Amino acid sequence: MSIRKKRIGILTGGGDCPGLNAVIRAVVRTATRDHDLEVVGIQFGFEGLLTNAIIPLTPESIRGILPKGGTLLRTTNRGNPFDFPHVDGTRIDRSSECVTNIGELGLDGIIAIGGDGTLRIAQRLADMGVPMVAVPKTIDNDLAATDYTFGFMTAVAVATEAVDRLHTTAESHDRVMILEVMGRNAGWIALYSGLAGGADIILIPEIPYDPQAIIESIHSREGTGSKFDIIVVAEGAKRVGGEESYLDKASRRLGGIAYQVAADIAQAIDLEIRVTVLGHIQRGGSPIAFDRLLSSRFGKAAADLVAKQKWGEMVALRGDDIISVPIRDAVSNPKYVEPHNEMVATARSLGVSFGDGR
Ligand code: F6P
Repeated sequence: MSIRKKRIGILTGGGDCPGLNAVIRAVVRTATRDHDLEVVGIQFGFEGLLTNAIIPLTPESIRGILPKGGTLLRTTNRGNPFDFPHVDGTRIDRSSECVTNIGELGLDGIIAIGGDGTLRIAQRLADMGVPMVAVPKTIDNDLAATDYTFGFMTAVAVATEAVDRLHTTAESHDRVMILEVMGRNAGWIALYSGLAGGADIILIPEIPYDPQAIIESIHSREGTGSKFDIIVVAEGAKRVGGEESYLDKASRRLGGIAYQVAADIAQAIDLEIRVTVLGHIQRGGSPIAFDRLLSSRFGKAAADLVAKQKWGEMVALRGDDIISVPIRDAVSNPKYVEPHNEMVATARSLGVSFGDGR
């Protein structure tokens, strides 16, 4: 009698980010080489479990994907089985269908790669008995359970290059350049890229800004002969006592704060202002080496967790070590910039203004 190989499924949920394919590759290689597991890909996140969108994943089929951006498995941020869009326009809970299909597909475990939303779904399915392991992903780096999520450093590299490019044109024209970067309600991308690129002003959600303080900072630089300024603003930043700027308030899609900052300071300064919204360029393209390494380490560790049947766990980076933590801890602990942290203090010592008059 032949014994069936254990079969695991892997999916990517939520927004994409650089490094997803590197995780998939590492899972498939480790699962097949070290643990003799069969791996299948579930397409479009958890939605694939409802539509039977399953593809085989073998060392041959994942060849060459390490440096590629996006996700071979595709993804969506609309496929929540607990709140699934129905044809009649309502939303229904199809989670038990998901659980049944996992059984019918003969999946002995699932590796879910995703951010906050995907991890919440993974936790709820784990609570229903689904053998689940998670890998944290987001360019926002806003999960306290891990020092870094993969994708973040690539987004920082892209944003830093944008700051560099804006510097030369700002200096040529005596202009104030405002660069809006992503990050949702966390200022990590703005802080890292602003500091790495030598921005003059960094505006983050965790330190609400006062337009007058920005104006004073620009005037003070003018007084020393610098007639140009680089402002990096996180998409979730807001004025003191103000609100976030939304492109679409209903879906809470952030965007446009750079134009608000421009409007806030335009009357009080003589320099011309130009706005750049970097957008999804931060999420596309090839992962930098840091993210390829982190993704590969996460993928290997996730496959090991599955082999050890450590269900309900998520891989994480702590210092130099890859560890695992309960998925539950990850979803309940967001990570924001602490306004007095060392990096903020360093930036201030280097002359960066956070738009708060300090
Ligand atoms: O969470 C990642 C992220 O890129 C955020 O930084 C940004 O606010 C959001 O996703 C954009 O989402 P969408 O791809 O749906 O526009």
